[in-house]
Amino acid sequence: MSIFGFHYRLERKSVGLVLMIVGVASIGGLVEIAPLFTIHQTVEDAPNMRVYTPLELAGRNIYIREGCYACHSQMIRTLRDEVERYGHYSLAVESKYDHPHLWGSKRTGPDLARLGGKYSDEWQVAHLNNPRDVVPESVMPAYTWLSRTELRTDDLSAHLKAQRTVGVPYTDDMIANAAADAYGQASPDSNDAEGVTKRYGKDTNVRAFDGKPNQLTEMDALVAYLQILGRLTDVDAKPVADAGAKLGAKP
Ligand code: HEC
Repeated sequence: MSIFGFHYRLERKSVGLVLMIVGVASIGGLVEIAPLFTIHQTVEDAPNMRVYTPLELAGRNIYIREGCYACHSQMIRTLRDEVERYGHYSLAVESKYDHPHLWGSKRTGPDLARLGGKYSDEWQVAHLNNPRDVVPESVMPAYTWLSRTELRTDDLSAHLKAQRTVGVPYTDDMIANAAADAYGQASPDSNDAEGVTKRYGKDTNVRAFDGKPNQLTEMDALVAYLQILGRLTDVDAKPVADAGAKLGAKP
């Protein structure tokens, strides 16, 4: 019996035809669904990954406000040239506290996913004040107002709370102390500095990012954020072939 003869007879038996349609259609369904059964192996876990501090989160908002993502991506692809230039390719888990994510789609400037620790705070401040002072051929705009604009902190508690509603594990303690922690992280000698390491871990950067210890500026926030990029997990310390292994916190 030819396949056409089989089909011809099947079309006259509605129950058989329906069963065959369901059978054939489910192959496509399985192909789409089956990979999700192993999603826990596919998306790595980083049990010790910490959340952004209020100061870093404020810096992230400035990064968004100033449109840095229009020229910079934060997503290192698995291609060899990218890994050699920027470091370990980006893993899904590294974006788990990013609301919204800033992967970007255009690189007028380099990728920033692993920028943290690449330059000193002084370099970052000088570069943001006038990129051509440190990179003569740069076409990046200058952001001179950041150093002289005081950082707004009165809305930080509400901001942490909003992040919590979308799944970032901020505690009540972190939310209540958001403004003080933002000040403390950029003022290492103040009474507020201790609370930052208590709540976010002793490896948190606590220093006068903009070089002015008693003044909390937008420059402090943005540089604090830039210095933590790619540093919330220790993935960059691992050989590329180890990707997907369990991650710990960056020492
Ligand atoms: C018009 C495009 C453009 C915009 C907008 C832009 N940049 Fe850049 N950026 C560049 C270019 C081009 C370079 C490479 C030359 C240089 O180092 O200045 C660069 C370099 C950098 C570097 C050095 C990266 C490295 O690994 O050497 C950092 C950090 C950086 N930008 C941060 C920022 C931040 C933060 C913002 C937003 C406040 C921003 N950029 C906005 C184009 C841009």
